[in-house]
Amino acid sequence: MNNEIHRIAVFTSGGDAPGMNAAIRAVVRTASYHDLHIYGIMHGYEGMVNGNIKRLEKGDVANIIHRGGTILKTARSQAFRTPEGRQKAYDSLQAHDIDALVAIGGDGTFTGATIFNEEFGVPVVGVPGTIDNDLYGTDYTIGFDTAVNTAIEAVDRIRDTADSHNRLFFVEVMGRHTGFIALNTGIGSGAGGIMIPESASDVDALLSRLNKMKMRNKLFSLVVVAEGNENGNAQALAKLVSEKFDGFETKVTIIGHLQRGGAPSALDRLLASRMGFAAVEGLIKGESNVMAGVQKNEVVYIPFADAIGKVKAPDPELIRMSEIISL
Ligand code: F6P
Repeated sequence: MNNEIHRIAVFTSGGDAPGMNAAIRAVVRTASYHDLHIYGIMHGYEGMVNGNIKRLEKGDVANIIHRGGTILKTARSQAFRTPEGRQKAYDSLQAHDIDALVAIGGDGTFTGATIFNEEFGVPVVGVPGTIDNDLYGTDYTIGFDTAVNTAIEAVDRIRDTADSHNRLFFVEVMGRHTGFIALNTGIGSGAGGIMIPESASDVDALLSRLNKMKMRNKLFSLVVVAEGNENGNAQALAKLVSEKFDGFETKVTIIGHLQRGGAPSALDRLLASRMGFAAVEGLIKGESNVMAGVQKNEVVYIPFADAIGKVKAPDPELIRMSEIISL
């Protein structure tokens, strides 16, 4: 039990993700329940450096659970990367007597939190909020499910026009250096090919798959490509493939930031509520430098060092299955 904690601040940082508002709501409501004062830091670490901090009451988080984006705004702060910036951030927290933090974000957010904790000793618990699902130790991150649903809906629409024109579409999805969004989108949309950094699938393998499809008279196809794919992004792959394969006319669609917005899915709302709740109760119980994640549908606390230091890879069995059932 940490009896020293009386005032908590919550912030969102890095790329926004659908469900962050549900997490903020859970943090505020849980803190209020435990008679803690709760503050919101605007624009992530940038707001901490600049002292852009405001008191949050229960009512301030009413009517936000269904909204995408983040009411606290977000940023990728350069100032916080400097010792002077972090000193200013600490002074801002001191000015409000804030003694603990809930950081909602991804690996950059938790890297910053780890350094800040080392330097100033402020307890911090993280909530994994990123559409990329790339944090080790949690099965899911907030926003991933919504982003995949959005991408699948987009690919379904592309399928209609691909089918009508007998075309081959390369659809690029987000995920930074990882292929979680691409893999799940590809499986869920029945794509003929999935190109992700974590799989050995290269252009020759893709060409061989396309030839097999052509031989069984498949008249159109969809290939989902992770933006971080090592064998090229959607544009590059479309060019390479169209030079070597004359089966279909090729087109490219980049779904982009559409994946970051929109109302969070039921799964993300639930996940965010559970993690926000667990973050505050974790701080009260004395947890720090950990992320509240889920493993096999149980809430767990994972050290930041593991969450950001270890590599989370998509399940190889899922990759193998996708290759079999898409042909
Ligand atoms: O980390 C989330 C993410 O959407 C990545 O998938 C993507 O590579 C990146 O952020 C885009 O960042 P920005 O919104 O700053 O362009």
